[in-house]
Parts: sequence; C-alpha cells; structure tokens
Amino acid sequence: MLDVRALVKHYPTAGGEPVRAVDGVSFEVRAGELVAIYGPSGSGKSTLLMLVAAVMRPDSGEILVGGHEISRLGDRDAARYRLHEVGFVSQTFHLISGLSAIDNAIVKLVGSGMRPKHAQQRITPLLARLGVDSQAERAPSELSMGEQQRIAIAKALSTNPSLLLADEPTGNLDTRRSRAVLALLSEVCREQGTAGVLVTHDPEALGYVDRAYTLRDGRLGEHRPDDTHLPLLPTLEQT
Ligand SMILES: Nc1ncnc2c1ncn2[C@@H]1O[C@H](COP(=O)(O)OP(=O)(O)OP(=O)(O)O)[C@@H](O)[C@H]1O
Ligand SMILES: [Mg+2]
Repeated sequence: MLDVRALVKHYPTAGGEPVRAVDGVSFEVRAGELVAIYGPSGSGKSTLLMLVAAVMRPDSGEILVGGHEISRLGDRDAARYRLHEVGFVSQTFHLISGLSAIDNAIVKLVGSGMRPKHAQQRITPLLARLGVDSQAERAPSELSMGEQQRIAIAKALSTNPSLLLADEPTGNLDTRRSRAVLALLSEVCREQGTAGVLVTHDPEALGYVDRAYTLRDGRLGEHRPDDTHLPLLPTLEQT
C-alpha cells in the first residue's frame, strides 16, 4: 500500500551545513498493518511523515501510495490525496480555533460532502471511545493538550483513511489513555485494512505494532527488540 524508496529531505540552514533530516529512507507498509518508526527527538520522524502526507516535497526519492507517486502531485491533487486517502495526526494538531471540538473532528467528513448533522452523529461514538465526547462543544482553547490530541485523532480516523500517519499520537496522554489510543489505532488498521505508520519515541507503543523500524539522524534501520529500553539520553549516573 505504502512504498517509500530512497527518500531524501535536507533542510538548508543559515550559513551552515544542511540538516540531513531524512537521508535515504526506504520502507513498505502493507494494507492492514501498523508499523512504528521509533527514534529520538530530532531524528527526522515528523519530516518523514510530512513527506508521506504530501505536506512537504522530498529532494529526491519516491513515495508510492496504492501504486501512485504522490510526492510530485500539484497542490490541488495533494489536498485531494490528504482529504480522501490520508488520516494525518500532526504533532501540532492543526485544530481550527473558531470551531468547536466536534466541528473540528468532522472537518474532513464535511469537506468530503457529508451534511454536518450526519457527520456529527457519525463521529460521536469515536469521540466517546476516545473519552472526549463530553468536551465536544468546547473550543480548542478550552481543551487540555491531551484532549486536543484526541480530537485530532478522531478527525484523522473519521474518513476511514487507507493510510494513517500518526505523529506521536500519545505524546500528551497519560498511560491509560495512551494504551487506549494505541489499541484503537492497531484495531483500525487491522479491521479496516488501513496501512498505518506510527512515529514515536515511546517504547510502550512498540507493543501495539506489527513491526518497527528505528530512525536515527535521518537513517532508518530494522528495530531490534533489545533497542527498546536503551536510554535515548544518558542517564544521570553516566554524565
Ligand atoms: N524547517 C527546518 N529547517 C531546518 N532544520 C529543520 C527544520 N525542521 C526540522 N529541522 C531539523 O531536522 C531534523 C529532524 O527534525 P524532525 O522535526 O523531523 O524530528 P523529529 O524526529 O520529529 O523530532 P521530535 O521527536 O522532537 O518531534 C532536526 O535536526 C531538526 O532540527
Ligand atoms: Mg516530531
């Protein structure tokens, strides 16, 4: 379903060497599979997801989704691809401040032509499952970070996307909510045949995925299970 080949994205910096944020990354995700990309802060996780979501263009390489190259789509086609194929949980949520939580969650359904009343009925069980149904009428500014994150997850899942891209979807959640969200993402992929990519630095998330890769300095490797508990920063005793 998703086939990423030799993907490269370097950011220019003022005066210095470019940052090799994504540096020759290749991987595949099949329909129905949830794959983790596990790496420390700054390793290129968000850059990689933004490339696959066609929010940003790579310098080189290919991104095939259902056999179609998406990295060279024009702006309109890229917007259509994001609306109809992709569920993207961005690290920064992208909620619209003038809309209630539930209206944010149904933005994509309404954008696809569904009547708002119908879309609200359809999204409500998902909001309940995520534990944010009682916050549905509030503005994003009246929600905690974890609640905003769960609204963004509901929005991403609302259209039954064929590709789910989740950037630290449990970054603001407590352990119980994290587990519930991870179980939901894994279930959605398995039951709806969605290809899922979960980027994270949370080792707990690795227990919910079919396979995992590690990402370090923009380079992808096979994840070895004994990597999981490696401290990503030196411990106090080591410094
Ligand atoms: N617009 C930019 N210009 C220059 N460098 C950038 C830019 N955005 C990101 N970078 C650099 O690219 C590298 C990868 O950043 P990215 O945001 O993809 O990492 P990440 O793994 O998502 O980190 P985190 O876990 O903190 O979210 C980092 O070294 C970062 O400093
Ligand atoms: Mg990031």
